[in-house]
Amino acid sequence: MSDGPVSVRREGAVAVVTIDNPPVNATSQAVRAGLLDAVAACDGMDVTKVVLACAGRTFVAGADVREFDKPPAPPHLPDVLAAIEGAAVPWVAAIHGTALGGGLELAMACHARVAAADAKLGLPEVTLGLIPGAGGTVRLPRLVPAETALGMVAGGRPVPARQAQAAGLVDALAEGDLLEAAKAHAAERTPTLARPVRRLGDRAAYDEAAEAQRRKARGQLSVGAAVDAVDRALTLPPDEALAAERAAFLELKASEQSAALRHLFFAERATLSDPRCKGAPRPVEQVGVVGGGTMGAGIAAACLLAGLAVTLAERDTEAAAAARGRVEEILAASVARGKIDDARRATLLAGFAATADTADLAGADLVIEAVFEDMDVKAAVFAELERHTRPDAILATNTSYLDVAALARSLRDPSRVIGLHFFSPAHVMKLLEIVLPDGVADDVVATAARLARRLGKIAVLAGVCDGFIGNRIMSAYRREADYLVEDGASPWEVDAAMRDFGFPMGVFEMQDLAGLDIAWAMRKRRAATRPASERYVAIADRLCEAGRLGRKTGAGWYDYAAGARAPSPATERIVAEERAAKEIVARPVSREDIMARLLGAMQAEGAAVLAEGIAARSGDIDVVMANGYGFPRWRGGPMFMAERTD
Ligand code: NAI
Repeated sequence: MSDGPVSVRREGAVAVVTIDNPPVNATSQAVRAGLLDAVAACDGMDVTKVVLACAGRTFVAGADVREFDKPPAPPHLPDVLAAIEGAAVPWVAAIHGTALGGGLELAMACHARVAAADAKLGLPEVTLGLIPGAGGTVRLPRLVPAETALGMVAGGRPVPARQAQAAGLVDALAEGDLLEAAKAHAAERTPTLARPVRRLGDRAAYDEAAEAQRRKARGQLSVGAAVDAVDRALTLPPDEALAAERAAFLELKASEQSAALRHLFFAERATLSDPRCKGAPRPVEQVGVVGGGTMGAGIAAACLLAGLAVTLAERDTEAAAAARGRVEEILAASVARGKIDDARRATLLAGFAATADTADLAGADLVIEAVFEDMDVKAAVFAELERHTRPDAILATNTSYLDVAALARSLRDPSRVIGLHFFSPAHVMKLLEIVLPDGVADDVVATAARLARRLGKIAVLAGVCDGFIGNRIMSAYRREADYLVEDGASPWEVDAAMRDFGFPMGVFEMQDLAGLDIAWAMRKRRAATRPASERYVAIADRLCEAGRLGRKTGAGWYDYAAGARAPSPATERIVAEERAAKEIVARPVSREDIMARLLGAMQAEGAAVLAEGIAARSGDIDVVMANGYGFPRWRGGPMFMAERTD
C-alpha cells in the first residue's frame, strides 16, 4: 500500500509503516488518512508487530501549522491515535531527528518507542499558545513521572532521547541501525491509556513546580491550560481527561493569543527572505573581535560555542588578559549549566587568542568591532583594521546607535562593512540585527545571514538610522515614559503597568539595571543639535547629576538599600521639582492609559521605521521587540496588535 505519504510494506513477521511527507513529516490530512488506512491494512496482515518510521531527516516534527487557520479536516488526529492504540498487534515507533507535538503524541499512541541516540522529543504546543490536543497530556503522565510531564507540557522544551529514556518515555535507544533496532524490540500490546499515571512520591514538589510554571506564564493562557491538563490527567479517568484536553485545545486554537504566537512563529521564519541572504556567502572560520568588554567577550564566546576560531584584540595586554578572563568565565558557566563538557571547553579555548596587537587579526575572515560607543574611537579602529586585515575580510560593527554608513564610507572599500548588532548578553540573547549600509556587497549580506544561523540567532535585516529598528523604537517609548512621569504617573506605576501587560520588567527598572550613564552621555552629546521645540524631560539627567546611576551605585530611579528595589522618595522629590519648574500640574494616569500611550509610541515609531524602509516587514519589528526587548510574545508584537485593532 503506497499511494500518498504513508506506505506499508512487509518484512518477514514485521509490517513497516513509513511516513514520507517532506520536509518534516507533519501530520497533515493525507498523513492522518494514510495512517488510519495503515492500521486497517496491518490488522489484516499476519505479522507480529508494526514498526512506524519516517523517511527524510526527522520523525514527525509536528502538525501542519498551515492547516491551523482552516476548519479541521477528518480524520482527526485523536481518532487516528485511538486506532493505533487499539491495533491488533503492537506498534513500535522508530524515532530519529525530532518527535514534536503531534509527532510525539503519535509516538506515545504506539505501544513502544525506540529512538536514535541523538533524537529529541517534546511537546512545544504551549509556545504556539496551545496545548497538545491528541492525548499528549493524558498519555505522557502514564509514561513519565508527573513532574517530568508537567515540565514538558507546560515548559514546551524538547528533551534529548537519553533523558527521555531515563524518564520512561523511550523504551530503548538505537546505537546502530534504527529500523533494525525497532524491529528487534520486543513490544507488548499494552495501550498507554490502560496504564496508571506515574505520580511523584512528593506531591508538594509537583504543586510547587506547577505554581512556578503559572508564575512564569506572565499572562500567557496556554501555560495555565497546560498545567490544568496535566492536573486532570493525574486525577480524572482517561476518557474524561482526553475530552477535556481536546476542548481546551480547540478553545486555545481559536484564541487571539495563539494567533499572536503563530504570527511570531511565521515572522521569525521569514526574516531572512531577502534574496541577498540566499546568495553564496564568503567562507568564515576565523573571527576577529575588537574590544573585549561586556559585548565583545559575549560575542567571542558565542562564536567559540559555534565552533569558530576567535582572536580578540584589546587596547593593551592588561585589557586583553581581562577580556580573556571574561570569555573563560562564560565558557565555564556553559560547562556548569551542562551545555558543553570540560573537554569541549578545552577544545574551544584552544581556538581562542586574546591580543593587544591588531596585526594578529591579519588572518580573520570577519572582524566584529565592539569598542566604546564613540564615533572617533570606532573610526580609528576601522582605519587600523583596514591596514591589517585581508581586503576581502568583512568588517562589522556592533554599534547600538552610530552611523554604520559613515563608518563604511571612511574605508577604501565600503562594500565590506556591515552592522552586526548583538544584544546583551551576546552569547544568550537570540536576536541579531544585521544593519545594511547602502552599497554593502551582496555576499557580505549572505555571509552575515549564514553566520547568524551558525550562531543560532534570530536575525533581522535593518536599514541605517539612529538606533536601527529596536533601539530606535525603544528610544521612542522611553521618551513617552518620561512624558508620563512628568505628566503625573510615578516611575513605579509605569513599571507596574508594563509588568501587568506582560513585560518581564518596566522601562525604569530596566534603566537601573543597565546603568543610566550611557544614555546620559548620549543626551549630552546630542544637546547641541536638539531642536528647541522638542519636549525634553530632564529628570534622568538630574538623577545622574545626583550620582544615581542605577543598581551599580545603589540608587537610580529606585533605591536599592540592601539589594532590594524600593520606590525612592529622592526620585519623587526630583520629579516634583521638575514638574514645578515646568508648571505641570500632576494628574493621575491609569494603568490602561499608561500602557496605551507606551504602546502607541512603539506603534507610531514602528510605522515610521516601516515607511522609511528601515524594516522590510512589520513582522520583523515584532520579532525584534519580542526577542530583544521583552515584549510579551503572546501579544504578537506591537505591529501585530496595531493591525488587529485597525
Ligand atoms: P564596554 O565598555 O564593556 O567594552 C568596550 C571595550 O572596548 C573595553 O574593554 C575597552 O577596553 C575596549 N576598547 C576600547 N577602545 C579600544 C580600542 N581602540 N581597541 C581595542 N579595544 C578597545 O562596552 P560594551 O557594553 O561592551 O559596548 C561595546 C559596543 O557594543 C558599543 O558600541 C555599544 O554601544 C555596543 N552594544 C552594547 C550593548 C550593551 O548592552 N552593553 C548592546 C548592544 C551593543
